[in-house]
Amino acid sequence: MISRTRPPGRTRLRTLTISGTAAIVAALVVSLLPNLAQAAETTLGAAAAQSGRYFGAAVAANKLSDSAYTTILNREFNAVTPENEMKIDATEPQQNNFTFSNADRIVNHALSRGWKVRGHTLAWYSQQPGWMQSMEGTALRNAMLNHINRVAGYYRGKIYSWDVVNEAFEDGNSGARRNSNLQRTGNDWIEAAFRAADAADPDAKLCYNDYNTDNWTWAKTQAVYNMVRDFKSRGVPIDCVGFQSHFNPNSPYNSNYRTTLSSFAALGVDVQITELDIEGSGTTQANTYRNVVNDCLAVARCNGLTVWGVRDCDSWRSSGTPLLFECNGTKKAAYTATLEALNSTGPGPTPTPTTPTPTPTTPPGSASEIVGAQSGRCIDVPNASRTNGTRVQLYDCNRQTNQSWTYTSGKQLQVYGSMCLDAAGSGNGAAVQIYSCHSQTNQQWNINSNGTITGVQSGRCLDVWSTTNGAQVQLYDCNGQANQQFRLASLT
Ligand code: XIL
Repeated sequence: MISRTRPPGRTRLRTLTISGTAAIVAALVVSLLPNLAQAAETTLGAAAAQSGRYFGAAVAANKLSDSAYTTILNREFNAVTPENEMKIDATEPQQNNFTFSNADRIVNHALSRGWKVRGHTLAWYSQQPGWMQSMEGTALRNAMLNHINRVAGYYRGKIYSWDVVNEAFEDGNSGARRNSNLQRTGNDWIEAAFRAADAADPDAKLCYNDYNTDNWTWAKTQAVYNMVRDFKSRGVPIDCVGFQSHFNPNSPYNSNYRTTLSSFAALGVDVQITELDIEGSGTTQANTYRNVVNDCLAVARCNGLTVWGVRDCDSWRSSGTPLLFECNGTKKAAYTATLEALNSTGPGPTPTPTTPTPTPTTPPGSASEIVGAQSGRCIDVPNASRTNGTRVQLYDCNRQTNQSWTYTSGKQLQVYGSMCLDAAGSGNGAAVQIYSCHSQTNQQWNINSNGTITGVQSGRCLDVWSTTNGAQVQLYDCNGQANQQFRLASLT
């Protein structure tokens, strides 16, 4: 903000010094002061708006009649997310019987004040109404599509961004999809949900939203990243990724968060911090809030932040005092740090990201050789065998069909068109072989931007124990060493 107010000041000073008396200069300095002082905004929403971002809160409809609550909400925020009122159990309590009254109270409160609304959420394994919980298969797939069509259709034109799908991936090292009734309708349920949402509300930004996806090195983060990259490469209508960012000792903030945000943004999606809360207190908590805000500000496509509640006692995790206001409404140190960080950008364009983004790996669909970083040799099917169970090895690269692998959108590494790279087990030392392709997770692989290839079922890395011709390929715990680094080099 200072750089914008200064240049006119400097020009005027130069002209005036010719006749300048100390009094004139002093008067001028005084006249400039209010400009400088004005630049620091005094509320979260206004401070975020200086760089074109929003600052939102999760809101509970039943609290809109609490004036202590709405005083803070109306003063500080310019976006809302209904905390529970748009979930499936709230909007479709009986099949095909839709109720929007509580969600409408929040939406109307926001829209009448010119705020943004984040819709949360259209497809999720949790908070399903009873009738949906007991559904499977085609009936469930159709019920999900109908729900999306009806709810997103009802709010068409009013929602800034929709969390179309929430929490579809497993925690831990597997990088797998979360097992749920929705997942069991078929792996394409997520893209089906996005296509339905796009048809129902073409102008809303359509987001995938999840937690434990903040740390760039976590398998879950990489799994979501690979899905988004795949969606973008195939034209599935996804516009943004929501990072819930519930930080606590089990899922702490990590300084690679900025890399996570900028890496996703580099795929061509917006990123939003959607459910921020940081357990703790005092300076430590304040500094983490500051870091999170600065990370968002550093990424041009990070277009807003939402905290998951207003005061600590509004929080779903109130014992962790994770929010910006005390229960009595007092601003916490975390509030001050957040406001200061938002004000630090001032008006004007957002700086371009400074963090390096990982080099995207080969997009799905084209044939590549898989080259070991340590050996320079390729993953090879010995003797061009087509027998199920033939174990793969390293061999001098030769560009032949027995070294030609196609990474599919289903995460398979196909060879000869019909056979797949297959893990014969999931433990350390499990053989990696070829086998007729099927849809199970022992034939699914994540090609990670850190150069490893991990099995979806095992979470373990492709590994070789030597660099020579004939060295066998196995699964092993990822160790960050060069014998687990591979590069897909396009053969086309
Ligand atoms: C939480 C709400 O805050 C609670 O009131 C409710 O009991 C459970 O859900 N991830 C999400 C949110 O996407 O919908 C969850 O909200 C918190 C975790």
